Amino acid sequence: MRILVVGGGGREHALCWAISASPLCTKLFCAPGNAGIAQVAECIDVGAEDIPGQVALAQRLNIDFVVIGPDAALVAGMADGFTAAGIKVFGPSKAAARLEGSKSFTKAICKENNIPTSASENFADVAKAEAYIRSQGAPIVVKADGLAAGKGVIVAETVDQAIEAVRDMLSGNRFGAAGSSVVIEEFMQGEEASFFALCDGEHVLPMVGAQDHKRAFDGDKGPNTGGMGAYSPAPVFDAAMQKRTMDEIVLPTIRAMARAGTPFKGVLYVGVMIDAKGPRLVEFNCRFGDPECQVLMMRLKSDLVPALIACADGGLKHLDLRWSEQAALTVILATKGYPDSYPRGSEIRGLDAAAKVEGVEIFHAGTKADGSRILANGGRVLNVSAMAPSVEEARTRAYRAVDLIDWPEGFCRRDIAWRAVSRKP
Ligand code: GLY
Repeated sequence: MRILVVGGGGREHALCWAISASPLCTKLFCAPGNAGIAQVAECIDVGAEDIPGQVALAQRLNIDFVVIGPDAALVAGMADGFTAAGIKVFGPSKAAARLEGSKSFTKAICKENNIPTSASENFADVAKAEAYIRSQGAPIVVKADGLAAGKGVIVAETVDQAIEAVRDMLSGNRFGAAGSSVVIEEFMQGEEASFFALCDGEHVLPMVGAQDHKRAFDGDKGPNTGGMGAYSPAPVFDAAMQKRTMDEIVLPTIRAMARAGTPFKGVLYVGVMIDAKGPRLVEFNCRFGDPECQVLMMRLKSDLVPALIACADGGLKHLDLRWSEQAALTVILATKGYPDSYPRGSEIRGLDAAAKVEGVEIFHAGTKADGSRILANGGRVLNVSAMAPSVEEARTRAYRAVDLIDWPEGFCRRDIAWRAVSRKP
């Protein structure tokens, strides 16, 4: 098969790495890709959100199967664009991607199907939202209804902060149309985990759980980011928690989407908050997590391609996936200044030595080649990933590789997987 992966981040590098190892893949393309992806796929400079451009590219390249990585493309309807052109695609339709694209849509699915999640209300009117916040008190969570590049969630410590967030969003200044309505929800206590399930519209094939690190600095301090590191398995998400998440959250959602005539085909990312009572839904996403995908791909022993194709074609119920029992962990190297403004173009050295550390795989998230030089070209730049029999050893290996990378303009957290490590007696 000739396969095209849409996107150019660490998630897409990990997907390309797994797909390029499949005997079913005869030629792999990625658009736009990055300098690391170029080692396993032919990269073509078409934007990840350019629907007509990506469809035209797939037609020109005689692509048999497309794998869409990023959320913005899916929420905008890129999968429908490929389907209309008669090209098989991994990723949900625009209607099904509302599970990520509209928080109020997902809250309605939860209410109608008794799916455990935080109490919430939707508002488009500032005065009504303010009255609700005052009646609930703080802490309280304010979310822009639509996609806001990972920045649309405010955990307000005080009523005044919550009201300011609502005004900011509903004024349309902050997130444009994505903030034209807001979901205000109860603050949930507990430990967060991410779980992934492949879906063919009817059947669901559970993958595994992972844990991300959203804050920029050690000790979960600093601003929220797209994710500074991840590991899998996550001890909090054990087999019993996975079964409850499947039964109480994933299966009722997939059935509801099918009943509504908008079956979900792709990977469902299930963000859960776990406390003594069990899992509650924090959010759905309609694609693999970034950086969770990187650790999932390292642990996956089965061929990824038949599983992705089965999501598009049906037949997931006949498939099984095998996973390594080992731990996988990834450390994000980001440009200093991220998640705010940061420069581009600094040179990264030492990657070859770092990649030679046992068990290490380096995925590129935001890089550009300049001849033989590798330059930083984004906020999150590298995902230094490692596998080992224990999470402690995976962490040691990953940081050994990080320390061989010569990039003064970058930074990383030094405490990835602290929850798993501190749990050990
Ligand atoms: N790791 C968070 C996300 O992919 O949204």
